[in-house]
Amino acid sequence: MKNTRARMSAGRLRRRLLAAGLGLPLLGWRAARAQALSPTPVCAGDSARATPPQTAGPYYLPDSPRRASLVELGERAPRLLLIGRVVSTACRPVPRALLDIWHCDAEGRYDNHGFRYRGHLFADAAGRYRLETIVPGLYPGRTRHLHIRVQAPGAAPLTTQLYFPGEPRNADDGLWQPALEIRFAARTADDAREGRFDFVLEG
Ligand SMILES: [Fe+2]
Repeated sequence: MKNTRARMSAGRLRRRLLAAGLGLPLLGWRAARAQALSPTPVCAGDSARATPPQTAGPYYLPDSPRRASLVELGERAPRLLLIGRVVSTACRPVPRALLDIWHCDAEGRYDNHGFRYRGHLFADAAGRYRLETIVPGLYPGRTRHLHIRVQAPGAAPLTTQLYFPGEPRNADDGLWQPALEIRFAARTADDAREGRFDFVLEG
């Protein structure tokens, strides 16, 4: 009976997502649930404020592999599923936007000789993206964060960083900005985190 109720609930949510134009047939149920987060406030009306740029820091490496999951084999750190959209300041989707991500491992170490926790992917025709990785660790002097470059085809990249709400170190990190925080749904039973961030590019 309980399972039947859960299936019916999932079905209802899928129908609501489809009705709202958010149906994601290629994504899993968990991604669809994260997509059900309230609409992003970046697009109130027909204009949006550009995502603030931030420094790339010293650890960016070009030519990262193309992949939608940065999770390493055997990695036990809590998972992070990040979804969202890339839109313009006119609130129009940016199809095929490039997203290049890099972050430290669960112990706060960057791989500066290879591509652990580095990768790039492309948004779909509606500007939607989905990235699977781990919750990055901490290293001295910084709060928890991800680095990312987002680039519309043929345009200059936006380089920025994403942050985690409620982190004890946020207030002490001079780079942290509330506007760059990921919005999280509830934690799942296996301690994975599902969050959303919508990027707004100039032009
Ligand atoms: Fe960093």
